[in-house]
Formats: sequence, C-alpha cells, structure tokens
Amino acid sequence: MSIAARAASLGTTVFSEFTALAQKSGAVNLGQGFPDFDGPAEIKEAAIAAIRAGENQYAPGPGSLALRTAISEHAARFYGQSLDPNSMITVTSGATEALFDALLGLVDPGDEVVVFEPFYDSYLAGIEMAGGVVRPVLLRPPDATHETFWFDADELRAAFSPRTKLVLLNTPHNPTGKVFTLAELELIAQLIEEHDALALVDEVYEHLVYAPARHLRFATLPGMHARTLTISSAGKSFSLTGWKIGWAMGPAELRRGVQSVHQFVTFASAAPFQTAVAAALRLPDDYFALVAREFVARRDRLAAALALAGLPTHRCDGAYFLLADISLARDANGAPFADDFAFCRHLTEKIGVAAIPPSAFYTAAHAQAGRGLARFAFCKRDATLDEAGSRLAKLSRATK
Ligand SMILES: Cc1ncc(COP(=O)(O)O)c(C=O)c1O
Repeated sequence: MSIAARAASLGTTVFSEFTALAQKSGAVNLGQGFPDFDGPAEIKEAAIAAIRAGENQYAPGPGSLALRTAISEHAARFYGQSLDPNSMITVTSGATEALFDALLGLVDPGDEVVVFEPFYDSYLAGIEMAGGVVRPVLLRPPDATHETFWFDADELRAAFSPRTKLVLLNTPHNPTGKVFTLAELELIAQLIEEHDALALVDEVYEHLVYAPARHLRFATLPGMHARTLTISSAGKSFSLTGWKIGWAMGPAELRRGVQSVHQFVTFASAAPFQTAVAAALRLPDDYFALVAREFVARRDRLAAALALAGLPTHRCDGAYFLLADISLARDANGAPFADDFAFCRHLTEKIGVAAIPPSAFYTAAHAQAGRGLARFAFCKRDATLDEAGSRLAKLSRATK
C-alpha cells in the first residue's frame, strides 16, 4: 500500500511539527501565526446570531451575496476598486483554499510561476500539485544600502520566460515583514505586461501595515486590473483565524478559474461565519486603524525582548512576524547552532518558547538563506509576550 507521489512529497508542514513540539514542551507558542485573543465581540455575536437565526445549511457556492457585496464595498472603500459581487468574487475556506483553487484554476502543467522566497509554505504545494514550475526570486536581508528585505531587479527579470504564467506575490509579506513599495510593484507590473502574464497577489495582511509603510493593492496599478487575482481573508484583519473565511477577487475570467475548482474542493464555506464576516468588513475605518496600532505595540514589545536576549530582529513593516538573527545564540555547551531547525528545537524544548525555522519557506537551493534566522509571531497578548521575554532571557549567547 502506498499513497500518491504528489502527497508523499509534501511531508508535514513545519507549523504542525512545531505546534506539536510546543504543546509537548509546554512552550509559549510564538511559532504558528494565530492570535491568542479573539476579534471584535460584536462580530462573534453576529456569528452566534446567524446560527440562532437558522443559517446552518449550505451557503451559495460562490459565497453568500451579503458577504460578496461586503467584500466589494470594502475594496471600493480602501482601494477605490470596482468589483462586481456576482462575477468577480468567490468566497473560500480561508486564503489557503483561495490560493490553491487559483493555482489549480490558472496554472497548466509546465507553466512557470515566479515567486519571491521565502514564501508561505502552501504556495509550493499548490504550484507543484498544479504541475507548475517554480521560478524563485530571492528576497535578500537588509544591508548597508537596503533598510528592508529587497530583491535584485536583474534576478527578477531573469526569472521571467516565455513560459511564465503568473507571478505569485505576497504583500505585506510573511515571514519577512516586507511591504512592497510602489517602485517594486511597478517593476513587477511592467514585467507581467511584457510577458503577457498574470498576478496572483496574497494580501491577507492588508490591514496589518505599520506607518510609515503603506499597503498598495497591486490590482490597482495601471494595466493590472485585468491581469490580477487578489486573495484575502478574515483571519488576520479580524483575529479570527479559526473561522477560515477567505476570498479571491478579480476579473470575471480569472475568477472563473477559481470558482471552477472551488465548486469541487469545498463547494461552499461556513454559512454563519460568512454573515458575520460581512459585518466585520463594514466596521468603521477606526477599527482598522486601531488594529494596526495595537499590532505595532506588540511588535515593539517582542522586538525589545528579543534584542535583550541577543536576538536582534530585522525591520518589520507589516504582517505579524519578526525575523531574528540567531548568530549570537549558543546552546547549553556554548556552541553555536548548526541551523535554524536546531535553534528552534532547542528554544522550544529547553527555553520554553516556540519559533519557526524560516529555511522551511525557501526552495532547497536557497534554504541556506533562512538558516541563520528564526521567525517569531507577535500576534499575542502582552502577558504572553512578557512570559516569552522572561524565558528568552535564559538563552545563552556569545560573550563577545
Ligand atoms: C501569507 C499568508 N497567506 C495565507 C495564509 C492563510 O490564510 P487563511 O488562514 O485565511 O487560510 C497565511 C496564514 O498564515 C499567510 O501567512
């Protein structure tokens, strides 16, 4: 008996591995990116009310009209986008399903997908299951001339070919905290036009952006509306990751690719949560501004604790992760760690704080770029971050 090769090659996600290790070790879990607090009480009440009101059977396959209308209004309010709720939006079980549907719906075997690495680990699985070929472009760490993670324009140009089907972009970016700038997005848009390609843009962290950085919706760049599918989700903006309500939006023809796959993957997402997320998307601007301010405070609290523990972090302009430099950290014998996996296992089991080894977010050829880093999630209550901070203080570090 054996499972299919396409499944066998996937292994277990790094999140499952480290969440299980965190539970076994009683570690404070700063690994997987889920908040340890809930989103707005009135949105939870809206879900409960929907269940009580009998919204407990299948929702329409593309999503409830109420939610698709709210998604369209939200896109108009924040980005001036015009999206027809009937033909341009599909609601999915989280952004993860939307990404998977989009890759299966747009990529033919042999098509090339340009993707910046490190990347959210589901991207690779989706591209490979569609039979696509990954063309990675490395995001390089900040240095003397770059304040944030950056890419080499020539490397990006070289990743395009006549077989390029699409660019899979994530901004704000997990795990680097990078928010792509207008100039960077314009270059990507120019190359997409030159190669008659498409864009699949994962903007799940669209509201978790920290001034002075600004989130730009890629689809609103000149020429990009017709070529872009945008993915988002309620999980991050409303701290409701367990509800798994996401969506894909874009021109009717591209959305048709998503919808065709979605109807046979899940058919429809959870009905009462769709009603509640429609209410969430209509929260006033103040809500979204407050969320960003609260996350800045959490980011700064964790960055300070990590710095005190000898784990300086790279600048984070968006999303809710800090990448820490682990080169000064030492094991119980005073030796440096072999790599990020060894460091994260030690940190989880011996220090009691779980983090994620970022080399899991690179293709094998570039995994080295992640071996000197560890990813810490700061979507946690102050008490959790403070407890992590006091445990991190026990970490040994180089003396000079
Ligand atoms: C970049 C990125 N995309 C997508 C997702 C998944 O979103 P969802 O929980 O809505 O499936 C995550 C979750 O961590 C993420 O970091």
